[in-house]
Amino acid sequence: MKLFSGTSNKPLAEKVAKELKIKLSPVDIHIFPDGEKRVRIIEKVVDKHTAVIQPTSTLAPENYMELFFIIDALQRSGAKSVTAVIPYLGYQRQDHIFRIGEAVSLDVIVKMLEALKIDKLIFFDLHSIKIPEIISIPLSHLSALPIFAEKIKKEKWNKNNTVLVSPDMGGIRRIKLLSSMLDNMPYASIEKERDLATGEVSVSGSKGLDGYDKAIVVDDMISSGGTIAVSSDFLKEKGVSEIYVFATHAVFSDKSKEILQKSTLEKVFATDTIQIPEDKKFPKLEILSVAPMIAKELKTNS
Ligand code: R5P
Repeated sequence: MKLFSGTSNKPLAEKVAKELKIKLSPVDIHIFPDGEKRVRIIEKVVDKHTAVIQPTSTLAPENYMELFFIIDALQRSGAKSVTAVIPYLGYQRQDHIFRIGEAVSLDVIVKMLEALKIDKLIFFDLHSIKIPEIISIPLSHLSALPIFAEKIKKEKWNKNNTVLVSPDMGGIRRIKLLSSMLDNMPYASIEKERDLATGEVSVSGSKGLDGYDKAIVVDDMISSGGTIAVSSDFLKEKGVSEIYVFATHAVFSDKSKEILQKSTLEKVFATDTIQIPEDKKFPKLEILSVAPMIAKELKTNS
């Protein structure tokens, strides 16, 4: 197997290569004065199984184009197979029409991935479990939940005064799964609403939250930080004294760093599916790596 990486998360690709005890194969990416990119694979890949790691996070269009070009270069160079590891799938949140007249961005992305005739896809914690159903390429949908469960077990947080919390109704399946990995730790949910025009988040209610000292909020991603900040304030009003957050994808847009650092929560655990630049990191943040899981998946199923 030969492993390649685009530019969106090379540190993760390096870690995966280390786990696989191989060297990351170089990709020459030349940027023309007008911003267009030319991609070239330098090593021979004829009859070799190959994989490319490229989360399509900010700037998603740039990262998608790089990924498409690397896949094309590998196929034209005679690779036996190409697995695209997309730890964070950009544009996945617009998976249906929320308001009349909107495009379904995810559908367009899926059509493009399918047109490339990729052999296999590997994703992490997709926003909706229905996404794999609409993709006709063989895929593995991995989850960071086992990594979160391991961390929570290590912290030895007491099941009797701790509750797992989903910040919205859509995340219930996720916390039920995590609860089953943690000896049935109790779980609850917040009812969140988002103004589609302004993006502002508010809480309209909750279920099963009373009587806990500690809350572990679990979400698939943190973007603006609005969901987490509003949920933390709500949990404090409910009498919770310590709040921890676990999120797979650190999208960290806008003022998320300031919002999360200033918020009432104790700590944010996020994974490295997306590369977090130094200027987006903050003292309350701890990064957990998905590299061993990707390496294991590539070793056993590619
Ligand atoms: C929403 O359904 C997602 O699960 C996340 O809660 C959301 O995308 C987080 O976004 P933000 O940090 O901007 O509130």
